[in-house]
Amino acid sequence: MKPITLPQLTAMKGVTAQVWATAYDAWMAKILDEVVEVILVGDSLGMVVQGKENTLPVTLDEMIYHTQMVQRNCQRAFLVTDLPFLSYQTSPQEAIRSAGRVLKEAGAQAVKLEGGKEMAETIHALTRVGIPVVGHLGMTPQSVHAFGGFGKQAKDSQGAKRLLEDAQDICAAGAFAFVLENIPHDLAQQVTRAVPALTIGIGAGGDTDGQVQVFHDLFGLYEDFTPRHAVKFGELGKEMKQMAQNYALAVREKKLISP
Ligand code: KIV
Repeated sequence: MKPITLPQLTAMKGVTAQVWATAYDAWMAKILDEVVEVILVGDSLGMVVQGKENTLPVTLDEMIYHTQMVQRNCQRAFLVTDLPFLSYQTSPQEAIRSAGRVLKEAGAQAVKLEGGKEMAETIHALTRVGIPVVGHLGMTPQSVHAFGGFGKQAKDSQGAKRLLEDAQDICAAGAFAFVLENIPHDLAQQVTRAVPALTIGIGAGGDTDGQVQVFHDLFGLYEDFTPRHAVKFGELGKEMKQMAQNYALAVREKKLISP
């Protein structure tokens, strides 16, 4: 299995839809590695793994720990890791230090960070030292308090204009791809046509250069909560609960005979 390279990813723009998905440990990486082009160690792990209300408490050390696990079974897919809240916003130098640790200590091949034109200088600084960058526009979860929730962004013409400008600015700064989360579908299509970088959608319609989904959403691991942008391909959460009940019953009825 040959590893997918960054030039191969960028050459896919306008040719083949790109498949991205999140993973947070070695087992998840094993499931995805042969199937997707990019594995993202998302700071969504704060919510789906740690059970927190949002991504803000996730630390750089935690991102490194999870990336190390994923990296062990990431032989083919390109590995991207999120920079968590306050590990890059304070200065470009701080961003280089944080991203450098993610590459050096965990083996990620690129970092993802949230924000538009205000992040252009930081993106430029990272790419200048050879760290590939993925941007993230639209509903950026690290700004959940500023947005007042996880709802759709760039809904009016002013918001759409700002998002398009942000996309152009982060591309000019060197981002090779960016996530478009929870924005109107026609805007995602317009942005995709306007920029040279790859656009990776989640809750942004079908006309982006690729799609990203959170592991737990993809497999239906949560029974009681499904985010609006989630696309489920199964209901494993329900099945696993049933299996746990079958196990409990077998123990209680003394029918569990181990080899
Ligand atoms: O943290 C994450 O998993 C993400 C994806 C939803 C794009 O940023």
